[in-house]
Amino acid sequence: MPGLAVNVDHVATLREARRINIPDPVTAAGIVELAGADGVVVHLREDRRHIQDRDVEILRKTVQTKLILEMAATPEMIDFALEIKPDLVTLVPEKREELTTEGGLDLEGNKDTVSEAVKTLQKGGFPVSLFVDPDLDQIKLAHRIDANFVEIHTGMFCDAETPKERFEAFERIVNSAKLAHKLKLGVNAGHGLGYQTIKQFEGLLEIDEFSIGHSIIARAVLVGLDRAVREMIALVKQL
Ligand code: PXP
Repeated sequence: MPGLAVNVDHVATLREARRINIPDPVTAAGIVELAGADGVVVHLREDRRHIQDRDVEILRKTVQTKLILEMAATPEMIDFALEIKPDLVTLVPEKREELTTEGGLDLEGNKDTVSEAVKTLQKGGFPVSLFVDPDLDQIKLAHRIDANFVEIHTGMFCDAETPKERFEAFERIVNSAKLAHKLKLGVNAGHGLGYQTIKQFEGLLEIDEFSIGHSIIARAVLVGLDRAVREMIALVKQL
C-alpha cells in the first residue's frame, strides 16, 4: 500500500503573505501526522518565500513520522541539511522566477554536481532522492549516481490538456516507476496531484509514496486540514 507525505509549504505561504507568525506550518505538521500521514514535506527555497529555516529546525524536533526536506543542491542547503539530518532529502532544481518547481533535475547536464551532492548528503547518514521527469534515461542516471530514491514528476500528467496528452504522460510515469523499482530505487511521485488525478494510480504498485501539497492545503482552507488529509489518505490507500 503506498504512503502519503504531505507538503505543508503553502501553510507557510499564507503566513508569509502577512509576514507574521500564523498559520504555523509546525502546527499544521502535527495535524497532518494526527490525521495519519506517513510524512511531512517542506521545501526550503533559496529565496525563503514560504518555509523558513526556523520551521525546519523546529520540525526536526517535533515530527514523529518522517521529515522530508526538498532543496536545491547548493552548498548552503547541503550544509543546512547536514546539520538538520532530515529523514530524506529530495534534491530539486530551483529557479527564483518560477511559481513552483517546474521540471525534474537534468541529471545529464548536472551529473557531477548532483553526484557530489548525493555522496556528501549520504555521508550525513540519511537517504537522498532525486526529483526527475518521467524519463527512462533520467531514471538510469539516478541509479548510476547511486541515489536511494527517485521522485517522479507527475506535473505533466496532472496538467495535460487532452486525453491523449494525459494518457501519454501517464504511460511515461508507469514505465519510469517500473524501471526505477526494477533498479531497486525507492520510488516516490508527486507534483500537481489532486483528489481526482490520484485515482489514476490504481494498481501502480511500484510507487512507494506520494508527495502532495497544494491540493490538500487548498481543500483544508474549505473543509479543515484533518479532513483534507484523511480524505487523501483514503484515496491513496485504495490504490
Ligand atoms: N514534489 C516536489 C519535488 C515538489 O517540488 C512539490 C512542490 O513543492 C511537490 C512534490 C508537491 O506538489 P504539489 O504542491 O503540487 O502537490
